[in-house]
Formats: sequence, C-alpha cells, structure tokens
Amino acid sequence: MTVTIVGSQLGDEGKGGIVDLWGDAADVVARYQGGDNAGHTVVEDGTEYKLSLVPSGAVRGKVGVLGNGCVVNPATLFEEIDDLQERGLDPDVRVARRAHVIFPYHRVLDGIEEEAKSESDSEVGTTGRGIGPTYEDKAGRRGIRVADLLDPDGLREKLEYAVPQKRALAEDVFGVETGEEFDVASLYEEYRRYGERLQYENMTVNAGEFLADRMAGGDEVMFEGAQGTIIDIDHGNYPYVTSSNPTAGGAATGTGLSPGVVGGGEIVGIVKAYLTRVGSGPMPTELGGVVGDTPGYDEQGAGDEESEELATYIREEGGEYGTVTGRPRRVGWLDMPMLRHSTRTNGFTGLAVHSYALAGEEIDAMPSTTERWADCEPNFRSFDGWEDVDWNEVADEGYDAIPENARAYLEYLSDELDTDVYAVGVGPGREQSVVVENPFEN
Ligand code: GDP
Ligand code: IMO
Ligand code: MG
Repeated sequence: MTVTIVGSQLGDEGKGGIVDLWGDAADVVARYQGGDNAGHTVVEDGTEYKLSLVPSGAVRGKVGVLGNGCVVNPATLFEEIDDLQERGLDPDVRVARRAHVIFPYHRVLDGIEEEAKSESDSEVGTTGRGIGPTYEDKAGRRGIRVADLLDPDGLREKLEYAVPQKRALAEDVFGVETGEEFDVASLYEEYRRYGERLQYENMTVNAGEFLADRMAGGDEVMFEGAQGTIIDIDHGNYPYVTSSNPTAGGAATGTGLSPGVVGGGEIVGIVKAYLTRVGSGPMPTELGGVVGDTPGYDEQGAGDEESEELATYIREEGGEYGTVTGRPRRVGWLDMPMLRHSTRTNGFTGLAVHSYALAGEEIDAMPSTTERWADCEPNFRSFDGWEDVDWNEVADEGYDAIPENARAYLEYLSDELDTDVYAVGVGPGREQSVVVENPFEN
C-alpha cells in the first residue's frame, strides 16, 4: 500500500519528521513534486539532517525516488548525496528520466523576476532556486529532462535552442547583463558530466514502472510531499505559490502511479499547531509581521506590541527560520478555514465551524481569490493553555499523557476536519512523537 504525506498549510509543517517516523515500514520513499526549494528536517538520536532533494527516508536507509513531477538541480543533488555520505549515510536515490532539470539560468531568471516584481511590492519571496522558471520551461515544452543529460548530442541541441531565448529574456526584456550561466558551451560541459555520473551510478529510472514493480514485489511505498496545499499552484493562494502541485493528486501525476493507487492508500495531512509562512502573500491570522515579507509591513514594529512579542516568542521557541534560506518565518494562529480547504482538496472530508467574517458575511472555507482572502478578518476561538511538561515522558507514555487542554485542542481539530489524529509530535526527534495509529498498519 501507499502512504502519502501532504503539507496541509503553507509548507514547513514537519513533513520530513513524519516521513521519518513511519519510514521504518516503508521500503521506498518517493518525492513527487518540487525541487531543492524544500527543506525537510529529520532528527535521529539528536543528529539533525536537513534534506532538500534526497527523500527523507534516506536517514533510515530506504530507497529514495525523485519522481517525474520533480525539478532536479543535479549540482545540489550530488552535493547533498556527498554530504550525507560524509556523515555516514548511504543514500540510494533514483531519479525519474522524465523529471525536468534546473539549470543555472533558471536560478538567475528567478532572481531577476523577483527583483522586477519588487518594484511594485509584488514579489513572491521565492527560495531563489529556479523552481518557477524550470516549471515554466516544462509547460512551454522547451524544458530539458534528466534523460536528455544521458544523451550528449541531444543535450547540446536542446541547450542551443533554449539558452539564446533565456539570454534574450534576461538582456532584452529585463535589461540585465548575463554571464556564464547562459553560456551553452560551459553548461553543456557541466551537465554532460552530471549525466555521466547519473548513468555510472545507475540512478535514472522510469519512475512509474520502477514504483509499480516494487509494489508488485510487495514493497510499501511512501510519497513525500514537499511545500504545502496553500502554496499549491492550483489550490493555493495564487500568485503567492510555488509552481507545482504539493496536493495529493500530485502524487499520481508526479510519479506515474494511478490516482487509484494513491487514493487507495492513506493520505496524511501534516498540520502545524500554529501557522508559519515564508515569503509574501496574505495570512489573515498572522501575528506581528516580518519586514519584506508581510504585505504592507515595512517598518520594524508596525504591529501591536502584544502580538509582536508573541510572534517573536513563537518564532524563537519553534526555531522558525527557513530551512533553505534561513529567513525568519512569519507566524500566526491555526487557520481552520484553510485546513478545511486543504482537507477537501487532498481527499479528506470535513466540516469547519470556525469561520471568517468578511464584510459582514460568514464564510467557512477559504475564498478562491487571494484578494478576498487578504481581506478576511479572523474570528478567533480561544483554548485554555497547558503547562509545560516533560514531553519525552509524554512520548513514552502515549496519547493519554498529553495534558488535557492540549488534547482538547487536538480533538477540536480532529472533529472539525472529521479526520483521525494519527500522531502528535511533541518535539523534533523521531522518538518525540506520540503515535496513535500507524497508517501502514491500517
Ligand atoms: P517540513 O518542510 O514540512 O519537513 O518541515 P521543516 O523541517 O522545514 O520544519 C519543521 C520544523 O519543526 C523543524 O525545525 C523540525 O525540527 C521541527 N519539528 C518537527 N516536528 C516537531 C515537533 O513535534 N515539535 C517541535 N517543537 N518541533 C518540531
Ligand atoms: P518545504 O517542503 C515553505 C515558498 C517560498 C515562496 C513560494 C515560492 O520545506 O515545506 P519557490 O522557490 O518554490 O518558487 O517559492 O513558496 N516555499 C516554501 N515555503 N516550505 C517550503 O518547502 C517551501 N518551498 C517554497 O517561500 O513563498
Ligand atoms: Mg521545510
């Protein structure tokens, strides 16, 4: 069977940790979208791993697959693999031949467009990894795929077609001088070598066929979503989104297994008990703000003092700084209409009682336009707090050891979304989880 792990909010919900938690029962862990914009944290026996491309199952020695829906920067992939090897792991990563390749010019164009948008304060706040421009080329049918790296003549031809267009875009449209990132000869040399390594290490696969064969042989497969539902290009708050489909449907299109396989398994939405966001875009329940990211928040201390303090407290306590870019994450309260939208989109059923008041009208799910969402004023529901306890002991003892008020919060969530709580993280480590149910045993 399959277990699909999906971010239910704005990314950084703790997906890597949950993949690791249940990864023991999995034989293969496959990413289905995104690229090295992801930053997934796994903590094993106090050792922290931050993974951008290598699927989180690598920490437990599981086979990792980067599906056709991913965009792969071979430079960062090999850097990460080499780094993990130096740390004593032996990552076995297979890359879909249909996956698209991120080139240095994609990164440069990502930066150029963000800079251009920043003149009207409309930048997305991307990770700068070239994700959007690579998916653009994929949709524009001028992308270069992993399989092309294995065919030097084809690679040169494709670069000769695409690169002059990219150079013209940078120079003639944006007026930016270009460098070796746009030089066909040096790109060809560098990427041909990545192709050789991919081939030599036998890393490329037809992802759908590979996964189907493994499943036919009795293997358990886990799909590791990156990013989150509200930054999904179709279901998120466009244009403040990433350029792929982190939602569960992406697990089918992004691997080559059928929707029936994905839907026939478990789809677990990862929920952070509060909310964080990296980059721009609306966030109705935001506390305080982050200069440069929170829309309209340009001066230090522009919010009210109490919420500023709380935001700082949550950010520091939760270590809420971007895994990839180190940027401070924006923080806010849990947003139930957002989770309701997410639960439906990903294949859960749910009710939302908590609601927004928008221009006097009550709504209980996220509006489809970003402008309308930005106008939402949250209706808050408050919960009694709970004392700090020895959370390691709680993890040992199980669900009933969770303080009563914390359980009330979890049960509210579960009731509202009509979805069982399978696990509760009480700290970043693998052992710091209260497991209620293991989806692989369902
Ligand atoms: P991902 O991108 O969804 O995999 O999440 P990130 O790794 O970017 O961010 C999650 C952060 O929360 C990391 O710093 C984790 O170490 C941390 N974390 C994960 N689970 C827990 C938990 O249950 N409690 C606490 N306090 N931190 C956690
Ligand atoms: P993980 O997998 C949080 C955000 C960026 C930006 C927007 C577009 O760790 O949860 P991109 O570089 O993808 O074009 O940026 O999406 N973003 C993430 N935010 N977690 C992530 O990944 C993210 N990946 C991209 O901050 O707002
Ligand atoms: Mg992350």
